[in-house]
Amino acid sequence: MVTEKAPGKLYIAGEYAVVEKGYPSIIVALDRFAYVSISESENYGSIFSKQYQENYTSWTRNNGEIIFNNRDNPFHYIISAIKIFETFIQENQIKLKNYHVHVNSELDSPSGKKYGLGSSAAVTVATIKALNSFYQTNLTKEQLFKLAALAHLDVQRNGSLGDIAASVYGGWISYKSFDKEWVNAARRNMTINELLNQNWPNLNISKLKAPTNLKLLIGWTQSPSSTSKLVDKVELSKSKKSDDYQKFLKESFNCVNQIQKGFELNDFDLIMKNISKNRQLLTSLSKFSGIEIETPKLKKMIEIANKYNGAAKTSGAGGGDCGIVIIDKNSLISDLINEWQDNDIELLNLKIHNLKQKNEVNK
Ligand code: PMV
Ligand code: MG
Repeated sequence: MVTEKAPGKLYIAGEYAVVEKGYPSIIVALDRFAYVSISESENYGSIFSKQYQENYTSWTRNNGEIIFNNRDNPFHYIISAIKIFETFIQENQIKLKNYHVHVNSELDSPSGKKYGLGSSAAVTVATIKALNSFYQTNLTKEQLFKLAALAHLDVQRNGSLGDIAASVYGGWISYKSFDKEWVNAARRNMTINELLNQNWPNLNISKLKAPTNLKLLIGWTQSPSSTSKLVDKVELSKSKKSDDYQKFLKESFNCVNQIQKGFELNDFDLIMKNISKNRQLLTSLSKFSGIEIETPKLKKMIEIANKYNGAAKTSGAGGGDCGIVIIDKNSLISDLINEWQDNDIELLNLKIHNLKQKNEVNK
């Protein structure tokens, strides 16, 4: 049996703009994981999730192709990852095997709390990583990213795929998304193998090193975000036609570049200043597009952090979930945390997950 894990993430800066090809974002991987184990089986395969036990589903093969006994199971990302990976396996003339897939995610529990740390991306990455170990295919990180991104895109169809990058590379990263139209077109006339070995236009992932005095605080608003997200998407697509949107993109580009420069130059103040600037930009996006990013609870979280000299903003799509604070490591944060608590905002005690070399995917 092989077991692999992949971390969840939080966006630090550049949200929404990052969905456009070539626009930068900063993302961090956190020490909460999705685990996927694969063990070889004989006549049939199965998917079992600790969090969704009632949805246990098994499959058999027909001329190599996987046929599920229960077609409306909720394991879309896992199945998509398996399909992409098996196409790759067949292109490389590797013999298909049957196997049981066992999933356990600390990021997603239907009964427990939802923090919005990117469970579907982590599950997709962990599945590809486990298959890579199981079939001993020696993928590089970049290939792992590309396979997981394709699998994720096949299900979700939109998004920047930054959560996949954070889950693959770990630590702090700067991420620019690839040209999805190019990839979609390339998929029609290239094999997966060829696609994995091509440069994907605009894609750029680089690791960042955080200034030594930088501390990240995560405030959870205790309300999950998602129900309104569909509506938000419609609203956003309308306002994308506006001049305001172009202005937002340009300013986000400059702002996130300054944050990245802050990381490179170990310039804590530059990072702080531009985190606050990014908050303003997202507020303006929210105003002209009509989508709610900063809920009253998130606003409260940010104002309290500001009072104690932290630079703060929403994280990811907003509308609930978590906000982030960048603060000097040496500041006393107990009063800040207490004030959060008085306002039903919970400090999430998560650490940044840096990949260790051992047992990690090559490169
Ligand atoms: O809410 P999250 O953590 O899933 O982040 C969404 C970030 C967006 O930029 C709004 C969308 C995306 O896919 O990048
Ligand atoms: Mg979110």
